[in-house]
Amino acid sequence: MEIYFAPMEGMTSPLLRRTHAAVFGGCDKYYSPFISTNEAISMNNKELEDVDHDQNSGLNLIPQIISNSAYQSAMYIKLLSEKYGYEEVNINLGCPSGTVVAKGKGSGMLRDPDAMDAYLGGLKEELDKLSDEGVKIPKVSIKTRIGFYDPGEHIRITQILKAHPAFQVTVHPRTRKQMYGGEVNLDAFAHMYDELKSEGVGIVYNGDIKRPEDCERITERFPDLDAVMIGRGLLADPSLARRIKGGEKASANEYSDYMEKILDGYILKIGVENFILAKMKDLCNFMKPFFSGNEKGFKEMCKADSVETFRVCMKQYIRNSKIY
Ligand SMILES: Cc1cc2nc3c(=O)[nH]c(=O)nc-3n(C[C@H](O)[C@H](O)[C@H](O)COP(=O)(O)O)c2cc1C
Repeated sequence: MEIYFAPMEGMTSPLLRRTHAAVFGGCDKYYSPFISTNEAISMNNKELEDVDHDQNSGLNLIPQIISNSAYQSAMYIKLLSEKYGYEEVNINLGCPSGTVVAKGKGSGMLRDPDAMDAYLGGLKEELDKLSDEGVKIPKVSIKTRIGFYDPGEHIRITQILKAHPAFQVTVHPRTRKQMYGGEVNLDAFAHMYDELKSEGVGIVYNGDIKRPEDCERITERFPDLDAVMIGRGLLADPSLARRIKGGEKASANEYSDYMEKILDGYILKIGVENFILAKMKDLCNFMKPFFSGNEKGFKEMCKADSVETFRVCMKQYIRNSKIY
């Protein structure tokens, strides 16, 4: 079973992915945050950097797109294959953000199953046309949820996914309404796992894996998963994938080294102090669950108003906190 680093817009930058792979490793794939398709079939600078090979050297990166247009999706898949050589592209059918949903993208598709059906059917047609023209078509995987409003919607979603089988489907077993909170619904996941596996689709579990024991519980119940995908758990404990594979938990020194490498990377890349601090403080909020017993140190780190004060407070925080 493999372990994938989940895509997280604003968090899993190429710098974080590269640093994670170099310091901790343990992840078989990293996913880019979503690239939103447009009529011009163009990517902005951030998206270009996200898929650039030099920025992702040594990583198995899977680019992710989000769209409500089968034609645009096929064109991006072609671009990512022909220009950048990617052999897998992931489609986001799960993002819960209001602006995304309003455009009928991400989990917006789950609110309108007929649109989802038409989108996936249209995508297959567009990709078949490109294939007939001699374009090398990468494998297409999907990342989705169990419903929009209600977990019962997973039955219809599964039927649609079975009618247009992707090579692999990642399921985050929450509805859009739940965003990233509340209980994951493992019974709905079990249904999707059984039904899609019977169609030859590989299944990836995603949601709330924070410790190796969480992963064990999932793999005991679902022994034929292709992989588990982890997001917040890996931002808190960057050694989590390594630990699941039998390696050591991060030491304070290792954690400090990792965070300093990211900080130094942002200093070089961003240059503007406030923006660097904002990026690092976002990451600190995710790292908090790995540490305990040093609320004061955490507050000091978050209050730091210069990069060098932040560096000192961060190193002190890591050294003086208990590793959870
Ligand atoms: C800040 C943030 C940004 C995210 N960005 C994306 C994204 O770009 N694409 C995507 O498919 N999922 C995105 N997600 C969802 C995560 O990939 C993942 O499904 C979610 O965090 C649940 O997994 P976890 O419990 O392991 O964190 C994002 C989640 C968060 C919290």
